[in-house]
Parts: sequence; C-alpha cells; structure tokens
Amino acid sequence: MRVFVTGASGHLGSAVVPDLLANGHAVIGLARSDAAAARLTAAGAEVLRGDLADLDRLRAGAEASDGVVHLAFRHDAMQSGDLAGAAESDLAALRAIGDALAGTDKPLVGTSGTGLLGQAGLDRTGTEADTLPGGYRIDAENYVIDLAGKGIRSSVVRLPIVHSDLDLTGFPRSLVGFAREHGVAAYIDAGTNRWPAVHTLDAAALYRLALESAPPATRLHAVAEEGVEFRRIAEAIAHGTGVPTRSVTAQEAPRYLGFLAHFVALDHPASSTRTQALLNWTPTHPTFLEDLATPHYFTVTS
Ligand SMILES: NC(=O)c1ccc[n+]([C@@H]2O[C@H](COP(=O)([O-])OP(=O)(O)OC[C@H]3O[C@@H](n4cnc5c(N)ncnc54)[C@H](OP(=O)(O)O)[C@@H]3O)[C@@H](O)[C@H]2O)c1
Repeated sequence: MRVFVTGASGHLGSAVVPDLLANGHAVIGLARSDAAAARLTAAGAEVLRGDLADLDRLRAGAEASDGVVHLAFRHDAMQSGDLAGAAESDLAALRAIGDALAGTDKPLVGTSGTGLLGQAGLDRTGTEADTLPGGYRIDAENYVIDLAGKGIRSSVVRLPIVHSDLDLTGFPRSLVGFAREHGVAAYIDAGTNRWPAVHTLDAAALYRLALESAPPATRLHAVAEEGVEFRRIAEAIAHGTGVPTRSVTAQEAPRYLGFLAHFVALDHPASSTRTQALLNWTPTHPTFLEDLATPHYFTVTS
C-alpha cells in the first residue's frame, strides 16, 4: 500500500514509518519543517510538506494514498492549556481525510488514548468495547469509528503510555524533568493507581496490522502491560534521577507534577485481549519499568 502518515516525524511516526517500509509499503509522510522532511527522506519516505491546518494538503495526501495513518496532534497547544484548540484541529484534520476517503473502502487508522477509560468510571479493567458518548479526544475517536458508515475501513488505536529509546519528548521525560525541578519523584496518595503501557515498536506493528486488516469500525488497544502502579514508575524515576519519592495529595499534585497532575492521577488499567486475538498481535519488546531502568530517559537530549 501507499500510505499517507500524518505525524510521521514524531515519536510514534519514527517507528510506524520504518515498520511500514520494512513490510513492503510505501509512505507519504506529512512534514511541516525542513528538519522533519529531511528525516523522512532519509528514512525512505516520500514527503508532503504541510501543516495540520492545511486541510487541502491533508485531502491531497489522503487522495494520493491507498490508506491513512493519522498520528499528528498539536501537543504544543495541549501543553499550553489549549485543549479545545488541539482537539478541534484534530477533528478538522480527520474531517478532511474522511472527505477524501469516503466511498473508497480504503483504511484509515486514527489515534486515541486509553486515558479516556479513566473518565468512564469503570471498576474493572477497560476493554476495546468500552466507549464514551463524547468529550476531549473522544469525539475524534467516535468520528473515526462512524466513518465506517461512509465507506471507509476505519479503525482507532487507543494508546497507553508509549515508551522506548525513540521517545524524546513524551510523558516519561516530563516526569523526569519535574522530579529534577522539584527534587522529588511524586506520586499521588498511595500511588496504587495504574497506567497501561506499550513499547513504541510494538505499537508501530499494531498500526500496520490495523491498516492491513482491521475490520471497519474497530477500536484497538495497543496495550502490552495492563497496568503499572504509578508508585513503581515514581520509584524508577527516583532511582534514575537520584531524588527521593514523595506521596502528595491530589491538591498538591499540580505543584510537583505540573500539566501532568491530571494524567498522573488516572487509574485506567486496560486489556488488549481482543486486539491480540483479532489481529494476531503479540507485544515482544521491553516493559516500561525495564526501559526506565536504562539511562535513556535520564540523559539530556537538547
Ligand atoms: N506517546 C504517547 O505516550 C501517547 C499516548 C497516548 C496517545 N498518544 C497520541 O499518539 C499520537 C502520536 O503521538 P507521539 O507521541 O508520536 O507525538 P509527538 O512525538 O509529539 O509527535 C507529534 C507529531 O505531530 C506533528 N505535528 C504536531 N503539530 C503539527 C501541526 N500543526 N502540523 C503538522 N504536524 C504536526 C509533529 O510534527 P513535528 O515533528 O514537526 O513536531 C509530530 O510529527 C498523538 O495523537 C498523541 O496524542 C501518544
């Protein structure tokens, strides 16, 4: 397949693009800067220059392809507090891609997060069958699923925390930064809340499998570990940075965990039993705590 990949230059993209190329696909990667374009060219991808806001470009990329993987997200807006703006850009991009693919039966693989299950108030491990009617990023997930009714083989990959030495700017690095800044690796209350996790290379393989063969309107969980207790994550960060751990209250959390306080508080164990059976996907790469035991997350990159 000739695959249009948005977010091709990001953390997930840096694994998805090589995985697609290594498995016989061609890639058109969206790039908004010279640096991103150069990285994609070096990886062996074709480049489509443009921003997420260039909806005509997104339509052109989708029309020129046999399928689309949508990874781009305005994390800069999200981190500066403009959650609504980031989510609206995401929806606008998906609408443009959806317009271009409607009636073609081509695949579109969208991206969501298992974090939404934390808002579902479940008292059990979340599954691919759990859905929410709407909300931040949930509207985009539901939009992609509904595109199956417009002749698109659409699916959504819900990502947990994604880790590996390909991760240069994700949540683990922010947690390390907050630990260094405040001199403690904080967790909330007893720290028994759980984050599911996946290695980047395992997640990339799932995106390819979804593109190749997920049935229409399929929600998938890229979950390798159902739930890592946050206290264990804080302990690994304390070990890597040489600071102590500290239990903080939910009220104190923003002081120690900044914009991540809300995410750190989530307890959202998630399973991928259905995903693994449906697409014959088996995660094989290191666990989150194994990755946190290497120097990668504790070295300065810029
Ligand atoms: N990593 C995780 O743990 C995790 C967990 C749950 C969900 N997700 C979701 O998975 C997706 C991929 O995440 P990631 O970790 O790969 O993120 P990332 O490393 O921040 O990469 C984001 C990508 O989006 C591109 N992008 C951002 N704003 C853009 C714009 N205005 N126009 C064009 N491209 C733009 C970036 O391009 P540049 O290279 O030019 O910056 C980059 O290629 C996102 O939707 C993210 O929210 C990730």
